[in-house]
Amino acid sequence: MKIAVLPGDGIGHEIIAEAVKVLNVLDLSLELETASVGGTAYKEQGHPLPESTLKLAKEADAILFGAVGDFQYDNLERHLRPEQAILGLRKELGLFANLRPAICYEQLTHASSLKPELVAGLDLLIIRELTGDIYFGQPRGRRTATDGHFPGAEEAFDTMRYSRPEIERIAHTAFQAARKRKNKVTSVDKANVLETFQFWRDVVTEVHQQYQDVTLEHMYVDNAAMQLVKAPKNLDVVVTGNMFGDILSDEAAMLTGSIGMLPSASLNARSQGLYEPSHGSAPDIAGQGIANPLATILSAAMMLRYSLNQAEAADRIEQAVQTVLAQGLRTGDIYSEGTTRVGTAQMGDAVVAA
Ligand code: NAI
Ligand code: MG
Repeated sequence: MKIAVLPGDGIGHEIIAEAVKVLNVLDLSLELETASVGGTAYKEQGHPLPESTLKLAKEADAILFGAVGDFQYDNLERHLRPEQAILGLRKELGLFANLRPAICYEQLTHASSLKPELVAGLDLLIIRELTGDIYFGQPRGRRTATDGHFPGAEEAFDTMRYSRPEIERIAHTAFQAARKRKNKVTSVDKANVLETFQFWRDVVTEVHQQYQDVTLEHMYVDNAAMQLVKAPKNLDVVVTGNMFGDILSDEAAMLTGSIGMLPSASLNARSQGLYEPSHGSAPDIAGQGIANPLATILSAAMMLRYSLNQAEAADRIEQAVQTVLAQGLRTGDIYSEGTTRVGTAQMGDAVVAA
């Protein structure tokens, strides 16, 4: 089983090192090959997603990705910025389904910004469409307005669009995931205002005909933002478009205490997947050895489960994470009084030991 390991920049190298430690201690025949992406690749090779890295990613059974987007590259032209690496990989590999679990661990219930009773036992799965919507829609650009409120003024525009097959395949992913969970899907849209999302609602409803055993509810995105903080446990599988999913999944992440705990998977039609923490490259804490590596370690567990058919090894990693939390070990982002503050490497070592 070949795994492409792409650390990225910012805290990427620090957190990936810990996930690699954990993978190496499992008795699996994994072939790990590392390549640079993002800011590091730009610095070394002049491009955030070099051909050789893309080739490695395409050939691998799975990709373990750290994070990209250090501040020092903020002034580069858009096509050279680190984020182009992750956008490019999603596009080139056809990674259209982003699975982002938001699980509230028993020991971290109090770390949530919500009352403990609202989040205790929370386990929801946000499925975000990843290759369409306003993030990729053409045309986009800047121009002089010829109509609207200020004709003659400088303006910018993007295009929101979804095709029927794009909505159908993400709807299938959601209904199939629901069958492995609580048989319930909440589809989030803005059908009352946007034509794109009225179409989304129509197509999801059609696909649902093939999944009569699954309950489907539709919810407007503004209400979903509200429900996530009001009664998150009423939601189980949430499926939505790229932009709404980007925002709601970060909101859901905070319910669980820290974005430093949350893994993610991005899958294509061949179950080849890219696994990465839900957070970014955290340039504000990069190089200090204090980043939480657990989201990346849990991403490695998801990789074993979804792409490498090693559910037992995945369980062992998740169990080990529970163990270190029960031991009271905490990185700064999840620290609370009475627990033991540890750095990135100590946390990784503790997971290895567990
Ligand atoms: P971020 O997730 O990098 O950081 C947000 C806050 O959470 C920061 O205060 C950071 O210190 C903290 N944080 C994040 N991960 C942590 C961890 N493992 N342990 C402890 N604390 C952690 O989001 P932000 O600041 O909006 O973005 C920073 C850069 O990352 C930007 O350039 C952005 O474009 C990029 N980014 C990259 C992503 C990716 O590689 N897939 C995803 C999201 C953002
Ligand atoms: Mg985001």
